[in-house]
Amino acid sequence: MQIATTVREAKAICRAWRREGKTIGLVPTMGALHEGHGSLIERARKENDKVFVSVFVNPTQFGPNEDFDKYPRHFEADKAFCEGLGADLVFHPAPEEMYHDQHCYVNMDLLTETLDGVARPIHFRGVCTVVSKLFNISGADRAYFGEKDAQQLAIVRKMALDLDFDVQVVGCPTVREADGLAKSSRNVYLSPEERAAATAIYRSIRQGREMMREGLAASELEQAMAATIDAEPLMETEYVSVVDALTMQPVKTVDRPVLVAIAAHDGKTRLIDNFSWDPAEAGQTAEA
Ligand code: PAJ
Repeated sequence: MQIATTVREAKAICRAWRREGKTIGLVPTMGALHEGHGSLIERARKENDKVFVSVFVNPTQFGPNEDFDKYPRHFEADKAFCEGLGADLVFHPAPEEMYHDQHCYVNMDLLTETLDGVARPIHFRGVCTVVSKLFNISGADRAYFGEKDAQQLAIVRKMALDLDFDVQVVGCPTVREADGLAKSSRNVYLSPEERAAATAIYRSIRQGREMMREGLAASELEQAMAATIDAEPLMETEYVSVVDALTMQPVKTVDRPVLVAIAAHDGKTRLIDNFSWDPAEAGQTAEA
Protein backbone atom coordinates (compact mmCIF):
# COMPACT_ATOMS: atom_id res chain seq x y z
CA MET A 1 0.00 0.00 0.00
CA GLN A 2 1.34 3.42 -0.94
CA ILE A 3 0.97 6.65 1.04
CA ALA A 4 0.81 10.02 -0.74
CA THR A 5 0.81 13.35 1.05
CA THR A 6 0.98 15.64 -1.99
CA VAL A 7 -1.47 16.15 -4.84
CA ARG A 8 1.35 15.67 -7.30
CA GLU A 9 2.30 12.22 -5.94
CA ALA A 10 -1.32 11.02 -5.77
CA LYS A 11 -1.99 12.20 -9.33
CA ALA A 12 1.16 10.50 -10.64
CA ILE A 13 0.19 7.17 -9.03
CA CYS A 14 -3.36 7.33 -10.41
CA ARG A 15 -2.17 8.42 -13.84
CA ALA A 16 0.13 5.39 -14.01
CA TRP A 17 -2.74 3.09 -13.00
CA ARG A 18 -5.01 4.53 -15.66
CA ARG A 19 -2.30 4.15 -18.28
CA GLU A 20 -2.19 0.44 -17.40
CA GLY A 21 -5.95 0.27 -17.93
CA LYS A 22 -6.74 -0.20 -14.23
CA THR A 23 -10.05 0.98 -12.76
CA ILE A 24 -9.93 3.13 -9.63
CA GLY A 25 -12.39 3.18 -6.71
CA LEU A 26 -12.26 6.28 -4.48
CA VAL A 27 -13.32 6.29 -0.82
CA PRO A 28 -13.20 9.83 0.63
CA THR A 29 -12.99 9.94 4.45
CA MET A 30 -11.97 12.21 7.29
CA GLY A 31 -10.24 9.33 9.09
CA ALA A 32 -10.86 7.89 12.58
CA LEU A 33 -11.95 4.93 10.50
CA HIS A 34 -14.58 2.47 11.71
CA GLU A 35 -16.61 -0.39 10.16
CA GLY A 36 -18.84 2.10 8.34
CA HIS A 37 -15.83 3.35 6.39
CA GLY A 38 -14.63 -0.27 6.17
CA SER A 39 -17.79 -1.31 4.32
CA LEU A 40 -17.09 1.35 1.67
CA ILE A 41 -13.47 0.24 1.27
CA GLU A 42 -14.54 -3.42 0.97
CA ARG A 43 -17.10 -2.56 -1.69
CA ALA A 44 -14.51 -0.50 -3.60
CA ARG A 45 -12.07 -3.42 -3.30
CA LYS A 46 -14.60 -5.79 -4.91
CA GLU A 47 -15.52 -3.50 -7.79
CA ASN A 48 -12.20 -1.94 -8.87
CA ASP A 49 -8.60 -2.86 -9.68
CA LYS A 50 -7.21 -0.13 -7.41
CA VAL A 51 -8.59 1.41 -4.21
CA PHE A 52 -7.79 5.02 -3.28
CA VAL A 53 -8.74 6.05 0.28
CA SER A 54 -8.38 9.70 1.27
CA VAL A 55 -7.92 10.57 4.94
CA PHE A 56 -8.32 14.32 5.26
CA VAL A 57 -10.12 16.35 7.93
CA ASN A 58 -11.39 18.96 5.52
CA PRO A 59 -11.29 22.41 7.16
CA THR A 60 -13.64 24.09 4.69
CA GLN A 61 -16.63 21.97 5.69
CA PHE A 62 -16.47 22.95 9.38
CA GLY A 63 -18.17 26.11 10.65
CA PRO A 64 -16.30 28.48 13.00
CA ASN A 65 -17.92 26.99 16.14
CA GLU A 66 -17.71 23.37 15.07
CA ASP A 67 -15.35 20.54 16.06
CA PHE A 68 -12.53 20.88 13.47
CA ASP A 69 -9.82 21.15 16.17
CA LYS A 70 -11.04 18.29 18.32
CA TYR A 71 -12.09 15.98 15.45
CA PRO A 72 -10.38 12.60 16.16
CA ARG A 73 -7.14 12.04 14.21
CA HIS A 74 -5.50 8.58 14.34
CA PHE A 75 -3.49 8.32 11.16
CA GLU A 76 -1.33 5.34 12.19
CA ALA A 77 -4.40 3.25 13.08
CA ASP A 78 -6.19 4.42 9.91
CA LYS A 79 -3.24 3.36 7.78
CA ALA A 80 -3.24 -0.13 9.30
CA PHE A 81 -7.03 -0.34 8.86
CA CYS A 82 -6.77 0.53 5.14
CA GLU A 83 -3.92 -1.88 4.60
CA GLY A 84 -5.91 -4.67 6.30
CA LEU A 85 -8.76 -4.11 3.85
CA GLY A 86 -6.48 -4.16 0.80
CA ALA A 87 -6.40 -0.47 -0.12
CA ASP A 88 -3.70 0.45 -2.66
CA LEU A 89 -3.23 4.13 -1.84
CA VAL A 90 -3.94 6.31 1.17
CA PHE A 91 -3.90 10.01 0.39
CA HIS A 92 -3.25 12.06 3.53
CA PRO A 93 -2.51 15.69 2.62
CA ALA A 94 -2.04 18.64 4.98
CA PRO A 95 -4.65 21.43 4.69
CA GLU A 96 -2.04 23.73 3.05
CA GLU A 97 -1.51 21.11 0.35
CA MET A 98 -5.21 21.11 -0.54
CA TYR A 99 -6.08 24.80 -0.18
CA HIS A 100 -4.40 27.91 -1.54
CA ASP A 101 -5.24 31.53 -0.81
CA GLN A 102 -8.50 32.73 -2.33
CA HIS A 103 -9.51 29.20 -3.17
CA CYS A 104 -12.27 28.45 -5.66
CA TYR A 105 -15.39 26.77 -4.18
CA VAL A 106 -18.04 24.50 -5.65
CA ASN A 107 -21.50 25.63 -4.58
CA MET A 108 -24.97 24.17 -4.88
CA ASP A 109 -28.25 25.85 -3.99
CA LEU A 110 -31.47 23.85 -3.65
CA LEU A 111 -30.26 20.60 -2.06
CA THR A 112 -28.03 22.38 0.47
CA GLU A 113 -30.68 24.73 1.82
CA THR A 114 -32.59 22.23 4.01
CA LEU A 115 -31.74 19.73 6.79
CA ASP A 116 -28.01 20.02 7.74
CA GLY A 117 -27.59 23.03 5.46
CA VAL A 118 -29.71 25.14 7.86
CA ALA A 119 -27.47 24.81 10.93
CA ARG A 120 -24.31 24.28 8.82
CA PRO A 121 -24.54 26.93 6.07
CA ILE A 122 -21.01 26.47 4.64
CA HIS A 123 -20.75 22.73 5.22
CA PHE A 124 -21.83 21.43 1.82
CA ARG A 125 -19.80 24.03 -0.05
CA GLY A 126 -16.73 22.55 1.67
CA VAL A 127 -17.84 18.99 0.93
CA CYS A 128 -18.51 19.72 -2.78
CA THR A 129 -15.17 21.49 -3.11
CA VAL A 130 -13.05 18.76 -1.54
CA VAL A 131 -14.93 15.95 -3.28
CA SER A 132 -14.45 17.69 -6.66
CA LYS A 133 -10.74 17.96 -5.94
CA LEU A 134 -10.57 14.26 -5.02
CA PHE A 135 -12.46 13.30 -8.19
CA ASN A 136 -9.94 15.27 -10.25
CA ILE A 137 -6.85 14.08 -8.35
CA SER A 138 -7.83 10.39 -8.56
CA GLY A 139 -9.63 10.27 -11.91
CA ALA A 140 -11.69 7.55 -10.19
CA ASP A 141 -14.17 5.39 -12.11
CA ARG A 142 -16.33 4.93 -9.00
CA ALA A 143 -16.62 6.81 -5.72
CA TYR A 144 -18.20 5.36 -2.58
CA PHE A 145 -20.34 7.29 -0.09
CA GLY A 146 -22.43 6.18 2.89
CA GLU A 147 -26.20 6.48 3.10
CA LYS A 148 -25.61 7.51 6.72
CA ASP A 149 -24.93 11.00 5.30
CA ALA A 150 -27.86 10.87 2.90
CA GLN A 151 -28.01 14.57 2.09
CA GLN A 152 -24.28 14.53 1.30
CA LEU A 153 -24.81 11.51 -0.97
CA ALA A 154 -27.68 13.23 -2.83
CA ILE A 155 -25.60 16.41 -3.23
CA VAL A 156 -22.52 14.55 -4.50
CA ARG A 157 -24.67 12.61 -7.02
CA LYS A 158 -26.20 15.86 -8.30
CA MET A 159 -22.81 17.58 -8.44
CA ALA A 160 -21.27 14.71 -10.44
CA LEU A 161 -24.19 14.89 -12.89
CA ASP A 162 -24.26 18.68 -13.20
CA LEU A 163 -20.49 19.12 -13.54
CA ASP A 164 -20.03 16.12 -15.88
CA PHE A 165 -17.62 14.26 -13.61
CA ASP A 166 -16.82 10.96 -15.25
CA VAL A 167 -17.36 9.00 -12.04
CA GLN A 168 -20.09 6.67 -10.86
CA VAL A 169 -21.27 7.65 -7.38
CA VAL A 170 -22.10 4.52 -5.36
CA GLY A 171 -24.25 4.71 -2.19
CA CYS A 172 -23.58 2.14 0.56
CA PRO A 173 -25.92 1.10 3.44
CA THR A 174 -25.46 2.47 6.97
CA VAL A 175 -23.46 0.24 9.28
CA ARG A 176 -24.85 0.21 12.83
CA GLU A 177 -23.81 -0.86 16.32
CA ALA A 178 -25.65 -3.87 17.80
CA ASP A 179 -28.22 -1.56 19.43
CA GLY A 180 -28.88 0.32 16.20
CA LEU A 181 -26.75 3.45 16.69
CA ALA A 182 -25.15 4.39 13.35
CA LYS A 183 -21.36 4.07 13.53
CA SER A 184 -19.71 7.49 13.43
CA SER A 185 -16.28 8.95 14.15
CA ARG A 186 -18.09 11.38 16.46
CA ASN A 187 -19.48 8.61 18.71
CA VAL A 188 -16.18 8.75 20.67
CA TYR A 189 -17.34 12.11 22.06
CA LEU A 190 -20.22 10.43 23.93
CA SER A 191 -20.05 9.73 27.69
CA PRO A 192 -21.52 6.35 28.77
CA GLU A 193 -24.79 8.09 29.71
CA GLU A 194 -24.95 9.94 26.37
CA ARG A 195 -24.11 6.73 24.51
CA ALA A 196 -27.08 5.00 26.19
CA ALA A 197 -29.38 7.95 25.40
CA ALA A 198 -28.33 7.88 21.72
CA THR A 199 -30.32 4.68 21.13
CA ALA A 200 -33.44 6.86 21.08
CA ILE A 201 -32.54 7.82 17.50
CA TYR A 202 -32.82 4.25 16.24
CA ARG A 203 -36.02 3.73 18.26
CA SER A 204 -37.46 6.75 16.44
CA ILE A 205 -36.41 5.23 13.09
CA ARG A 206 -38.25 1.97 13.86
CA GLN A 207 -41.27 3.96 14.92
CA GLY A 208 -41.07 6.08 11.76
CA ARG A 209 -40.97 3.00 9.52
CA GLU A 210 -44.00 1.60 11.31
CA MET A 211 -45.89 4.87 10.83
CA MET A 212 -44.93 4.90 7.13
CA ARG A 213 -46.40 1.41 6.76
CA GLU A 214 -49.61 2.69 8.36
CA GLY A 215 -49.67 5.51 5.81
CA LEU A 216 -49.62 8.40 8.30
CA ALA A 217 -48.97 11.99 7.22
CA ALA A 218 -45.40 13.31 7.17
CA SER A 219 -46.10 15.89 9.90
CA GLU A 220 -47.50 13.28 12.31
CA LEU A 221 -44.47 11.11 11.76
CA GLU A 222 -42.05 14.01 12.27
CA GLN A 223 -43.72 14.99 15.54
CA ALA A 224 -43.90 11.45 16.91
CA MET A 225 -40.26 10.67 16.05
CA ALA A 226 -39.04 13.94 17.60
CA ALA A 227 -41.07 13.20 20.75
CA THR A 228 -39.39 9.78 21.06
CA ILE A 229 -35.95 11.37 20.87
CA ASP A 230 -36.82 14.25 23.21
CA ALA A 231 -38.19 11.81 25.81
CA GLU A 232 -34.51 11.09 26.60
CA PRO A 233 -33.45 13.88 28.99
CA LEU A 234 -29.94 14.17 27.45
CA MET A 235 -31.24 14.38 23.89
CA GLU A 236 -32.66 17.30 21.96
CA THR A 237 -34.00 17.03 18.43
CA GLU A 238 -32.71 19.60 15.92
CA TYR A 239 -34.93 18.32 13.13
CA VAL A 240 -36.88 15.31 11.99
CA SER A 241 -37.85 16.01 8.42
CA VAL A 242 -39.52 14.09 5.60
CA VAL A 243 -38.03 15.33 2.31
CA ASP A 244 -38.10 14.40 -1.36
CA ALA A 245 -35.27 11.89 -1.88
CA LEU A 246 -33.86 13.79 -4.85
CA THR A 247 -34.43 17.48 -4.07
CA MET A 248 -34.24 17.39 -0.24
CA GLN A 249 -37.33 19.64 -0.14
CA PRO A 250 -40.02 18.98 2.51
CA VAL A 251 -43.00 16.87 1.47
CA LYS A 252 -46.43 16.76 3.14
CA THR A 253 -47.74 13.59 1.50
CA VAL A 254 -45.51 10.59 0.97
CA ASP A 255 -46.37 10.01 -2.70
CA ARG A 256 -42.80 9.54 -3.98
CA PRO A 257 -39.46 8.25 -2.64
CA VAL A 258 -38.55 10.20 0.48
CA LEU A 259 -35.76 10.53 2.98
CA VAL A 260 -36.65 10.84 6.65
CA ALA A 261 -33.67 12.71 8.06
CA ILE A 262 -32.85 13.26 11.72
CA ALA A 263 -30.38 15.50 13.54
CA ALA A 264 -30.26 15.46 17.33
CA HIS A 265 -27.97 16.80 20.02
CA ASP A 266 -26.78 14.33 22.62
CA GLY A 267 -25.15 16.52 25.24
CA LYS A 268 -22.69 18.57 23.16
CA THR A 269 -22.47 16.03 20.32
CA ARG A 270 -24.55 16.39 17.18
CA LEU A 271 -25.68 13.07 15.68
CA ILE A 272 -27.42 12.46 12.34
CA ASP A 273 -29.28 9.46 10.96
CA ASN A 274 -32.04 8.71 8.47
CA PHE A 275 -34.09 6.13 6.65
CA SER A 276 -35.40 6.02 3.10
CA TRP A 277 -38.94 5.12 2.14
CA ASP A 278 -40.40 4.42 -1.27
CA PRO A 279 -44.20 4.09 -1.17
CA ALA A 280 -44.13 2.22 -4.49
CA GLU A 281 -42.00 -0.55 -3.03
CA ALA A 282 -44.35 -3.05 -1.39
CA GLY A 283 -43.14 -5.37 1.35
CA GLN A 284 -40.32 -3.30 2.80
CA THR A 285 -38.87 -5.08 5.83
CA ALA A 286 -39.00 -3.65 9.32
CA GLU A 287 -35.23 -3.26 9.53
CA ALA A 288 -33.81 0.23 9.00
P1 PAJ B 1 -16.58 10.84 7.05
O1 PAJ B 1 -17.55 11.31 8.08
O2 PAJ B 1 -15.24 10.33 7.49
O3 PAJ B 1 -17.29 9.70 6.22
C1 PAJ B 1 -16.65 9.15 5.08
C2 PAJ B 1 -17.66 8.27 4.37
O4 PAJ B 1 -18.04 7.19 5.22
C3 PAJ B 1 -18.95 9.05 4.01
O5 PAJ B 1 -19.37 8.70 2.71
C4 PAJ B 1 -19.92 8.56 5.07
O6 PAJ B 1 -21.28 8.61 4.65
C5 PAJ B 1 -19.46 7.13 5.26
N1 PAJ B 1 -19.91 6.61 6.56
C6 PAJ B 1 -19.73 7.17 7.78
N2 PAJ B 1 -20.34 6.44 8.74
C7 PAJ B 1 -20.92 5.39 8.10
C8 PAJ B 1 -21.71 4.27 8.53
N3 PAJ B 1 -22.02 4.10 9.81
N4 PAJ B 1 -22.15 3.41 7.59
C9 PAJ B 1 -21.84 3.58 6.28
N5 PAJ B 1 -21.10 4.61 5.81
C10 PAJ B 1 -20.65 5.50 6.71
O7 PAJ B 1 -18.39 12.22 5.11
C11 PAJ B 1 -17.24 12.64 5.23
O8 PAJ B 1 -16.28 12.02 5.98
C12 PAJ B 1 -16.75 13.91 4.53
O9 PAJ B 1 -17.82 14.81 4.40
C13 PAJ B 1 -16.10 13.63 3.16
C14 PAJ B 1 -17.09 13.01 2.17
C15 PAJ B 1 -14.87 12.73 3.32
C16 PAJ B 1 -15.62 14.98 2.56
O10 PAJ B 1 -14.70 15.60 3.39
